[in-house]
Amino acid sequence: MRILIKNGHILDPASGTDEVKDLLIEEDRIAKLEKNSKHKADRVIDATGCYVMPGLIDLHVHLRDPGFTHKETIETGALAAARGGYTTICAMPNTNPVMDNRDRIGFVHRKAAAEAVVNVLQIGAITEGQNGEYLADIAGMAEEGAPAISEDGKSVMNTKLYLKGMKQAAACGLKVFAHCEEKTLAGNGVMHKSARAKELGMPEISHAVEDIITARDILLAKEAGADLHLCHVSTADSVKMIALAKKAGYRITAEACPHHFTLSVEDIQKDDPNFKMNPPLRDPEDVEAIRQGIADGTIDVISTDHAPHTMQEKGVSMLGAPFGIVGLETAASLAYTELVETGILTPMQMVEKMSYNGAKIIGSEKGTLAPDSVADIVIFDPRETYVIDAAEFASKGRNTPFQGRRVKGRVRCTIVAGEVVYEKETH
Ligand code: DOR
Ligand code: ZN
Repeated sequence: MRILIKNGHILDPASGTDEVKDLLIEEDRIAKLEKNSKHKADRVIDATGCYVMPGLIDLHVHLRDPGFTHKETIETGALAAARGGYTTICAMPNTNPVMDNRDRIGFVHRKAAAEAVVNVLQIGAITEGQNGEYLADIAGMAEEGAPAISEDGKSVMNTKLYLKGMKQAAACGLKVFAHCEEKTLAGNGVMHKSARAKELGMPEISHAVEDIITARDILLAKEAGADLHLCHVSTADSVKMIALAKKAGYRITAEACPHHFTLSVEDIQKDDPNFKMNPPLRDPEDVEAIRQGIADGTIDVISTDHAPHTMQEKGVSMLGAPFGIVGLETAASLAYTELVETGILTPMQMVEKMSYNGAKIIGSEKGTLAPDSVADIVIFDPRETYVIDAAEFASKGRNTPFQGRRVKGRVRCTIVAGEVVYEKETH
């Protein structure tokens, strides 16, 4: 099978290609990039006016499979990913059972190979059952192809144990993905500490809940000689600390999510669980700091923290609803609208943050359109505006704070290993 993508604007950070060219796919590989290609193909896709980019890579997704398949499955999560332009997603280990040993990682990888339309990499837990008491089978999970370990959903509060885990991760070549939350301080908080939380009568989560653990984890990873990746950074002080650590040469990377660079706590008008996620929406000053961090390179990656929950679970007060919002199917449009249209990022930098940099962090050869690489590609139309409607999601989750929001830029086609796995209908 040969697919020829004609007249698309190629954006490939690896080679710096930033111009209109045709891209030829042969079987599962990228065969050629050239102007005015005369190659014969089984299928020609006219990408005039569109960007052709390496498939997006999401370092932070909750697939809920096994254990919570009423919220999402590997299959539906992968379909949502394809619809969002993602060709590789990294799944967090807070499933049931928790992904804490070699066999469980292998189970998900085999299930994904059979059921998922995109590549799924399963991240391992740091402690057994994410209970914070004994280290998980870190070496075994590394051998089974886990790209990182993470206690996501919480932090490892036992610092001595975490240090030992970080050292093991470093010895196995695994990254440590850190969810930074001082649990005793977070208590039963559901909203960022703010006038709005007080107005709504909601228990609060302060900046320090995140920042204290950001500081600890940066210093701990330095001591362990581990590569630390900070998940869903949401505060101005965490951005400052990351910038400082990077300047000092520490081995550290960081990600931010679309909701944290788009919305602040002030966008929460009422008790609405679709605005409840962890970390929470912060102050407008924090949003500005995240945007600045994305612009100046302090934040390397845009991830989604796709966290599907059912309508029933979210159909109660913020006090009782679980934390989390879906993100796979809105991230590219939000990044384009909020960061590229505003001049914070160039289209090429958007590709770096949504594909190329993530690939580098997990040591993957993906995230490029270089000839001979696997044809994981997304075609993105920057001209189309539309209104986000959760009813159209492929995800089982409908829990988004972006319902009804107008955005610019839309995924048109997603290709995984030379196969079209998503294509937007054209009417
Ligand atoms: O909002 C969140 N949802 N934050 C997390 O850390 C976990 C996630 C989930 O698993 O639902
Ligand atoms: Zn998290």
